[in-house]
Amino acid sequence: MKYNYQSPIAVVDSGVGGITVLRKLYRLMPNEDYIYFGDSANAPYGVKTKEEIKNLTVKACESLMERGAKAIVIACNTATSAAAEYLREKYPDFIFIGLEPALKPAALSSEKPRVLVLATPLTLKEEKFDRLMARFEGKAEFIKLPAPELVKFIESGNLDTSEEIAYLEEILAPYAGNKVDAVVLGCTHFPFAERSILKILGDKVLVFEGSKGAAEHCRHCLEIKGLRCVLDREGDISFENSDENKIEISKKMFYYKG
Ligand code: DGL
Repeated sequence: MKYNYQSPIAVVDSGVGGITVLRKLYRLMPNEDYIYFGDSANAPYGVKTKEEIKNLTVKACESLMERGAKAIVIACNTATSAAAEYLREKYPDFIFIGLEPALKPAALSSEKPRVLVLATPLTLKEEKFDRLMARFEGKAEFIKLPAPELVKFIESGNLDTSEEIAYLEEILAPYAGNKVDAVVLGCTHFPFAERSILKILGDKVLVFEGSKGAAEHCRHCLEIKGLRCVLDREGDISFENSDENKIEISKKMFYYKG
């Protein structure tokens, strides 16, 4: 593992969802180089076993480390749940930034809010999630709602389709019309569906997701280790995917105005 301040930051996800995080990273640190790896050939991760997700995530991360990445952003709540702890133990000096559902800001957004947490089945059933929820349990009422099908709509690259909206209407029906105070988008694919989700949930519902916090945390960790790029330049983004057909979709989604 050889890297320095000019080396790229790697961003990994099960597919195109982590682009919501890449966009925040690039906005915050446009002079850095990035390698974005989406594992769309194996998506969705959220319905696989923890062991399968861990193996896929570790494989992707180790290959990017060998190629000289100076930090890895695991831009996937599901992969973070399954593999971040293992990777941090195995490589204690390396920077791994994980994503986790933004329960804290949602819980503190008003007096005892009703918070709908949308995520993958794996994220919601992990002990890591229960521990996080227990920290804020007294401050909010949390409602867990897995949305396993939503990932494949986003993966197609066609956003807000009638099929996607019909699916969301079905699962969100009990909460439609401002019946919750806040929604946590606990999967990095879901911000691409934010507009459709809010249309159903209602205009008073606050939205929380962790991508901006993760980007800021990444910058902080790079600064502490003296790995922040100091060159005055426009960084490069290289899009890679285990499914070739997703490269063009990834580029389109990076520039998506939603
Ligand atoms: N983007 C991933 C997340 O944040 C999950 C998508 C999937 O199920 O593959 O959890």
